[in-house]
This record gives sequence, structure tokens and C-alpha cells, in this order.
Amino acid sequence: MKPASFRAQTLAALCGLLTLPAAHAADMRNGGRIYNVHCAGCHGADGRSVMPEAPNFARGEKLMQSDVALLSAMRIGRGAMPGYVGILSDREILDVVSFLRTLR
Ligand code: HEC
Repeated sequence: MKPASFRAQTLAALCGLLTLPAAHAADMRNGGRIYNVHCAGCHGADGRSVMPEAPNFARGEKLMQSDVALLSAMRIGRGAMPGYVGILSDREILDVVSFLRTLR
């Protein structure tokens, strides 16, 4: 193999690696749309909760957790909050989680 084509192949492989996570990154805009429909009623459009027991995302409440921990809370539900299994896919929940992190 000529050095030039080897370099090109290595470069192509590296680009593939770099774009892979991007292709799977959460879609924050989609998360925002879902939030407005399913979450804003209790957590407030801007993250300032309208329900006393609901965490205030504008103050970052409950957001010091991994995406996976938040995903699991959302799937199962918490207190007055319903579980979202069968309503939102894991993909959609992770989109919402990425949106929650923008509300601070
Ligand atoms: C019916 C009102 C209601 C709706 C709708 C609702 N929530 Fe909640 N949510 C709550 C309440 C109340 C709590 C606090 C529950 C508790 O700790 O007892 C909570 C807790 C949470 C928490 C913290 C979980 C934890 O680890 O304690 C997250 C994250 C969250 N909600 C996100 C969302 C998202 C995202 C949506 C929309 C998909 C949503 N909620 C919809 C009322 C609601």
C-alpha cells in the first residue's frame, strides 16, 4: 500500500470515529418540543416549576445526575410524575434530558 493511500484511509477511519458520536447525539430541539407537550405543565415552560413538589430545572434541581439515572427516573416515574415508558422512547427521553440541561 502506498503511504499516501494509507494516510487517506487512516484519515477516513478517524473521521468515521469522530462523526459516530455526533450521529447518536441527543436532539435538544426535539427534546424541547417534547418538553413543551409533556413536561411544561408541571415543570414550567422555562424550567421554573409550576407545581410545588416538582423540581425547578432553572435552578438545576435534580440535574446533578447522569443521563442514564434521569432516563430511569423518567421511565418509572416519581411521586406525582407519571412514568413515560410506552409514551416516550428512550431516545426521546434522552432528547428531553439534553434539553433539561439547557434550562439552567
Ligand atoms: C404531573 C406533573 C408532572 C409532569 C407532567 C412531569 N413531571 Fe417531572 N416531576 C414531577 C414531580 C412532582 C416530581 C418530583 C417527584 C418526587 O420526587 O416526588 C418530578 C420529578 C422529575 C425529575 C427528577 C427525578 C428524580 O431523580 O428525582 C425529573 C428529571 C423530571 N421530573 C423530568 C420530567 C420531564 C422531562 C417530564 C416530561 C417528559 C416531566 N418531568 C413531566 C411532576 C411532573
